[in-house]
Amino acid sequence: MLNIVFVASEAAPLAKTGGLADVAGSLPQALRRLGHKLTVIMPYYRRHLAKAGIKAKPTGDAVEMWADGHLRHCPLHEARVHGLRFLLIEQDDLYDRDGLYGPAGGAYDDNLLRYVLFNRVALEAMAKLGAPVDIIHCHDWQAGMLPVLLRTQYQHYAPIAKARTVYTIHNLAYQGVFPAEWLSRLGLPSHHHHPAGYEFYGQINCMKAGIMAADAVTTVSPTYAREILTPEYGCHLDGFLIQHISKLSGIVNGLDTESWDPATDEALAARFSAVRTAGKKRCKQALQERCGLDVSADTPLLTLISRLADQKGIDLLIPNIEAWMQRGYQLVILGSGDPSIEQHLHSIAARHPRQMHFNAGFDEAYSHQIYAGGDIFLMPSRFEPCGLGQLIAMRYGNVPVVRATGGLSDTVIDYHADKKCATGVHFTAATPEAFDAALEETISLYRNPTTWSRIRLNAIRRDSSWQASAQRYADLYKQLLAK
Ligand code: ADP
Ligand code: GLC
Repeated sequence: MLNIVFVASEAAPLAKTGGLADVAGSLPQALRRLGHKLTVIMPYYRRHLAKAGIKAKPTGDAVEMWADGHLRHCPLHEARVHGLRFLLIEQDDLYDRDGLYGPAGGAYDDNLLRYVLFNRVALEAMAKLGAPVDIIHCHDWQAGMLPVLLRTQYQHYAPIAKARTVYTIHNLAYQGVFPAEWLSRLGLPSHHHHPAGYEFYGQINCMKAGIMAADAVTTVSPTYAREILTPEYGCHLDGFLIQHISKLSGIVNGLDTESWDPATDEALAARFSAVRTAGKKRCKQALQERCGLDVSADTPLLTLISRLADQKGIDLLIPNIEAWMQRGYQLVILGSGDPSIEQHLHSIAARHPRQMHFNAGFDEAYSHQIYAGGDIFLMPSRFEPCGLGQLIAMRYGNVPVVRATGGLSDTVIDYHADKKCATGVHFTAATPEAFDAALEETISLYRNPTTWSRIRLNAIRRDSSWQASAQRYADLYKQLLAK
């Protein structure tokens, strides 16, 4: 049994902006099922926990920490969700805010202070937990400094000194880059602030720090692990990643198949499964009613649930919407982010109230209803490290139309490549025309009931559980400890 600590800036169901939360909430559960001891350390986002209805209680411990000229007293809290222990760091002026990382579409100015403090207090808290820690698994830029701090400033803490670190890149596009003036303000180890370390065009780059100092670096799909070694996907770190290629690998994400289960999901109008499909029809009708669309079993219902950011290829969708409305399809979108994209979608939806519905916001329960009600799930991402939307969509009986990139390539079996086992349809060129052509093909499959039910059943039956991937992480941890 290994003692494993996850350090993540969000985890479902406590606080979530995207797929990182899904992973940080569910992979630890899968590792526990393999017999390991798991703790997830996170900032105490007080109002997000309250909103999610999750109670935390003080552990009675606290960490004192200097940061940016102030001594901060950081009480520790604890929450348990289905037996998994979350250790939460309280610092209300930093973490109890409306957004996790910033106001809609933006970032807080003090994010480096917020997350370096988080990393330092997490290390001190682990040292206080007493039991020696085997693996510290750090996620995304918000935990990127931790492996460097551990190697340089925390070696005198016996319980963590020998821990191996794994750094998972969920999205290379967000690197956590900040002005160098923070080096002294936060007491960062400046002897690593050089091009082979975490210096990046004169600034501090947290993701570079994690890549440099961690014992292993992973990304969330094998294809993305290869793509980021190229200038097209490398976000200016492709050369640096190639230098560290010997410790890089890709492990595809799984899903929490208990909370994402259409056979038991309480948020749905009716429940369904691969063998009992009638409930899916009821869910489609309920979604059409909720959105004020014409209630029609035969009309193709397209859905999209996403952060509205460049990554997600919404610019490949928008030029097609009018034509799709002319062809009589329905479209339901749930997403928040870039205000100009939101405005654009609102204005198109206003012209087609009985065919299109756009909800700008983040709404967990509603997302379940959309996944359950839709026929075709759209994911035209320009890049996609893994993607959980398509996994959930397949499990809820949608056929996804995806751009062939990253984890979308690895998890959706393309109809062109394998007609028998297909779970969806791929397109390659990042153009609205290529997306439209793939959608039209999908619609013709939809019009053929035998083909459609085969593809849909393949999708529902896909094993998106964590089982295989959790074992891969466990094997990686053991390899590192054997070195
Ligand atoms: P990313 O992490 O890049 O945003 P993923 O596909 O990995 O993309 O994960 C997105 C997760 O966030 C999924 O669980 C999806 O259902 C959820 N999600 C995205 N936007 C919304 C929203 N507006 N409301 C509710 N859930 C959302
Ligand atoms: C990121 C990626 C997404 C991935 C998620 C969880 O936010 O954009 O593709 O599924 O992290 O790993």
